[in-house]
Amino acid sequence: RMEVTETFAGISLPGHLHTKESLHFATTFPFRDSDVLIVTYPKSGTTWMQEILTLLYSAGDVRPAKTIPNWVRAPWLEQIYFKDTLQDTAGHRLITTHLPARVLAPALQQSKAKVIYVARNPKDVAVSFYHFHRLAKFLPDPGSFDAFLLQFLEGTVQYGSWFEHVKGWLGQRQALDIFYVTYEELHQDLRGAAEHLGTFLGLPLGPETLDSLERHCSFAAMRDNAMANYSLIPCEIMDHSQGRFMRKGVVGDWRQHFSPRQNALFDRVYQREMRDAALRAPWSM
Ligand code: PPS
Repeated sequence: RMEVTETFAGISLPGHLHTKESLHFATTFPFRDSDVLIVTYPKSGTTWMQEILTLLYSAGDVRPAKTIPNWVRAPWLEQIYFKDTLQDTAGHRLITTHLPARVLAPALQQSKAKVIYVARNPKDVAVSFYHFHRLAKFLPDPGSFDAFLLQFLEGTVQYGSWFEHVKGWLGQRQALDIFYVTYEELHQDLRGAAEHLGTFLGLPLGPETLDSLERHCSFAAMRDNAMANYSLIPCEIMDHSQGRFMRKGVVGDWRQHFSPRQNALFDRVYQREMRDAALRAPWSM
């Protein structure tokens, strides 16, 4: 494992992708009104949203999505290669981030940049994140699922607490221009979600665009797209023998992983943490 950790604002982040400088650059970034920011806690549908937005902006033309890696199409604000990767176009710029609102909102509030926040049932997030730790060599060895789940609930995993992330960004709804959508909604009605996104972004969408988007952004199509499925990442960084980035892409896989005891603990913590959060959560816990 490569495992060097950068600590920033009380959160651990993979050290091969983040430095003090890259994080300082992110939190003081001069956003433009035309910027579109994808904000997620890890494993919540980031890659899916990058693909959806690529297709929306290309009006259904699949060529950009099939020829340019997603980390170039929508680079990660906080990572070390961001500066060199961000295209300086006069039009919209797609930017991705996992940072929590408390460190990023001040810079964002200086602009009218649009924010797309994708949330996912945290039980499925925990399962997906656990599997991802096994193949991502820049993350710590997760140990047993039970041990990992406790860290997830405590918020001591890399990228910090899921609860803090969701509540922090929801708390910005008055201050920022945020489109909130869940992984589960994308799953249930991708076309409908894409139409709402088009309206939010002011993009006129014909039926052909939506047809192409639906086809190209399906789990099967993305699993086979080398520009979206991370198969281009060398094995020292992602050990592809341990599984695929595009793992299952389903809703409710936690039921295959949680014991009744783990589920009861999760529900207790969720209820305590989310009691006061006005969260539209279409997932069944
Ligand atoms: S990351 O590392 O934070 O960027 O990961 P992220 O992209 O947020 O989440 C990865 C999970 O999203 C699933 N995925 C999809 N599901 C359904 N349809 C499509 N098109 C799709 N694309 C990605 C991916 O399989 C991971 O979830 P799991 O549950 O592990 O399969």
